[in-house]
Amino acid sequence: MTKTMSSPLLLLLLSIAITIAAATSAYPSVPTDCTLSLADDKLVPVRREVYGGGRIFDISHRYTVDMPSWGSDDGLGEFLWLPASMKNGSLANNSVMKLPTHTGTHVDAPGHMIDRYFDAGFDVDTLDLEVLNGPALLVDVPRDSNITAEVMESLKIPKGVRRVLFRTLNTDRGLMYKREYDTSYVGFTTDGARWLVKNTDIKLVGLDFLSVACDDHLVSAHLEFFESREVILVEGLKLDDVPVGMYNVHCLPLRLLGSEGSPIRCILIK
Ligand SMILES: *[C@@H]1O[C@H](CO)[C@@H](O)[C@H](O)[C@H]1NC(C)=O
Ligand SMILES: *[C@@H]1O[C@H](CO)[C@@H](O)[C@H](O)[C@H]1NC(C)=O
Ligand SMILES: *[C@@H]1O[C@H](CO)[C@@H](O)[C@H](O)[C@H]1NC(C)=O
Repeated sequence: MTKTMSSPLLLLLLSIAITIAAATSAYPSVPTDCTLSLADDKLVPVRREVYGGGRIFDISHRYTVDMPSWGSDDGLGEFLWLPASMKNGSLANNSVMKLPTHTGTHVDAPGHMIDRYFDAGFDVDTLDLEVLNGPALLVDVPRDSNITAEVMESLKIPKGVRRVLFRTLNTDRGLMYKREYDTSYVGFTTDGARWLVKNTDIKLVGLDFLSVACDDHLVSAHLEFFESREVILVEGLKLDDVPVGMYNVHCLPLRLLGSEGSPIRCILIK
């Protein structure tokens, strides 16, 4: 009996394994810590970066203790713990987390650096979901420069494009996978930000490190974007291995009343 049962079951398991392997191998250079194993009876979750063979890309980073955190050499550190656990007799496992709202892939609201906007309540709950969701262009920027007015002009982003995700040297250098907050990351200079606001229709600016503004222009470049309260900044995107081009972006912040930042889940759909 066991013998006749086991071989169809094995075939089924094998076909599941092959399907999963095909889905994950489409996105090779992103670290994965879990693979399906048939060798034992352990339950092994599957973690994916890409779904449907390239139809959906997850462009959010996982939250880990080792991920970079603003101004820290040691990374984010412990942010998640289990005060109630089944192992200790609770009915269920209930984790608690505590983390800065500008951690990992996240969004900035205008109150982040303009105090009168903060006081007036321009928090992440007021951000326009129409801007955070819709057609978006993923572009590669030159690797030898920050994003200056000159660079912005050279990208020749057509009028009418409202959402742009900028992939930079930060992705090549894997800065979001390093524990240390590396201040030499690439971002917008003040004149680059001003050029974008004045000369394009871009309302969603996405970048692949924790700040859209380079370190030397940290506040001044942010201010260029925040002043009109029309541009939304999404920072810390995971753009590894995603082909350049047009997608539909979907970004959803948490409704954190009174907060000028929020972790955000972003995906691209082909
Ligand atoms: C269970 O409780 C003990 C003692 O309070 C604690 O040290 C341990 O971390 C808890 N374990 C889990 C998994 O919650
Ligand atoms: C519940 O918590 C225990 C630790 O006490 C952990 O080993 C187990 O995986 C958790 N279960 C779930 C469903 O997360
Ligand atoms: C970008 O600017 C930062 C300082 O804000 C600098 O450290 C970095 O080298 C610059 N990157 C490039 C590619 O020019």
